[in-house]
Amino acid sequence: MSHTKDHKNVYVLNQTNQLKGLFTIIRDRTKPRSEFIFYANRIIRLIVEEGLNHLPVSPAQVTTAQNVKFDGVVFDGRICGASIMRAGESMEQGLRDCCRSVRIGKILIQRDEESQEPVLHYKKLPDDIADRYVLLLDPMLATGGSAMCAMDILISMGCKQEQIIFLNVIASPEGLHNVHKRFPNIRIVTAVIDEGLDNKGYITPGLGDFGDIYFGTK
Ligand code: PRP
Ligand code: URA
Repeated sequence: MSHTKDHKNVYVLNQTNQLKGLFTIIRDRTKPRSEFIFYANRIIRLIVEEGLNHLPVSPAQVTTAQNVKFDGVVFDGRICGASIMRAGESMEQGLRDCCRSVRIGKILIQRDEESQEPVLHYKKLPDDIADRYVLLLDPMLATGGSAMCAMDILISMGCKQEQIIFLNVIASPEGLHNVHKRFPNIRIVTAVIDEGLDNKGYITPGLGDFGDIYFGTK
């Protein structure tokens, strides 16, 4: 994991051969959907584990079965998830696998395919979200419009930028730039930064429409 030299709060997973291999499968349009889901879930798990590293901890000492003290840490503060529907729902299980019974709010935002502008349809978030760290979930950061729309909602509910950690599978440089410029203190954890956007606002090389492939609506 390293943060990019351009943006201090943007963290990119180490580009290991394992990660490249996982992306080679999910980017391959000839692969069946079942493989896309399985390998996307593996990438999501890596992102969630990395995102959890950004939560604050306090020192904690335990005694091992060897009757020896061990100086460790415990997580501080409360968390919740917030998924940007629909594709963000694909990341919910990865979060639940790491944080049992975590609360997960929903924000339904769909991009208008013509204008590429995000449209908010629905939201339901924990009432006490302002007192929690929020793991905001969306696998694709293209223009950044959807993510910024969700971030505006979280801020309007009293969340501070420092409390929000955006977990993402593929980011475009344009999307990262737009989000970071507007919300410089929101941390973004992504698995990879791609080359750019095409004229329809799709990430390139990308993988196409993540939600359509994952949920089988293509
Ligand atoms: C996709 C994706 C993001 C958004 C990214 O969702 O999951 O939410 O587009 O694009 P942006 O950064 O330009 O806003 P989409 O609206 O296609 O809906 P879906 O989740 O149903 O696939
Ligand atoms: N949403 C997707 O699912 N893919 C893209 O490339 C852009 C937006």
